[in-house]
Amino acid sequence: MARRPLIAANWKMHKTQQEAKTFVASFLPKIAAVRDRDVLICPPAPLIFAVDQARKDSPILLGAQNMYFEEKGAFTGEVSPGMLKDLHCEFVILGHSERRWVFGETDELINKKVQAAIKAGLIPILCVGEKLEEREKNLTEQVILNQMDLGVKGVADTVIGTMVIAYEPVWAIGTGRNASAKDAHDAIALIREFIHSRYGSSSAEKIRILYGGSVKPENMATYMKEEGIDGGLVGGASLDPESFAKLVTY
Ligand code: 13P
Repeated sequence: MARRPLIAANWKMHKTQQEAKTFVASFLPKIAAVRDRDVLICPPAPLIFAVDQARKDSPILLGAQNMYFEEKGAFTGEVSPGMLKDLHCEFVILGHSERRWVFGETDELINKKVQAAIKAGLIPILCVGEKLEEREKNLTEQVILNQMDLGVKGVADTVIGTMVIAYEPVWAIGTGRNASAKDAHDAIALIREFIHSRYGSSSAEKIRILYGGSVKPENMATYMKEEGIDGGLVGGASLDPESFAKLVTY
């Protein structure tokens, strides 16, 4: 069965409530004819409620950009899986490179979050990808496989296929230096092969794997032509409704 493409907006730390509402109002008519793919918006946590209100009765899916793994307690500044569910989130981005490299998140912490998200009924979008110096040292495959190995530890074979993986090479994020279609294809094939060897063919065929890193309306179609690339995780180019609509209708 063909996998349904997923085009996801990661707004990072951008927009006010009013800007989020204006975005959705302008974006929705532009994607009205889209039926055959999933469209997801991951706003910053304080804007999740506003986006949920604005998306009502639309096919837009809702996700968060991060969460903590504990359900409640003395964790000042953190947001729990249950809180995201309560806000009607369906997805949560975990292990984004900005979480790893700006906030020091480890693979072990990310794995706890992955397991907690699944337990709460959220779909994790697990991000993996190498840094420039790792690519230059030919460590790309090793880094990706290690992040995958530690990231999905303990995830049952009955649920792995419903997860989403995003391959986001760190050097391609926000730099305008997007990975070539071949490099994205090869990394994604490696991730799918890992899932195949660990979980079997039906999970490997089912799991959606996205590319992220300087995805723009001009290069989206090139990625989507590649076998195995199931969509995009988009930062900068998802902030403008016109641009994100072009990405969705690639
Ligand atoms: P850019 O699209 O701005 O490069 O960001 C990619 C990204 O990090 C999405 O999660």
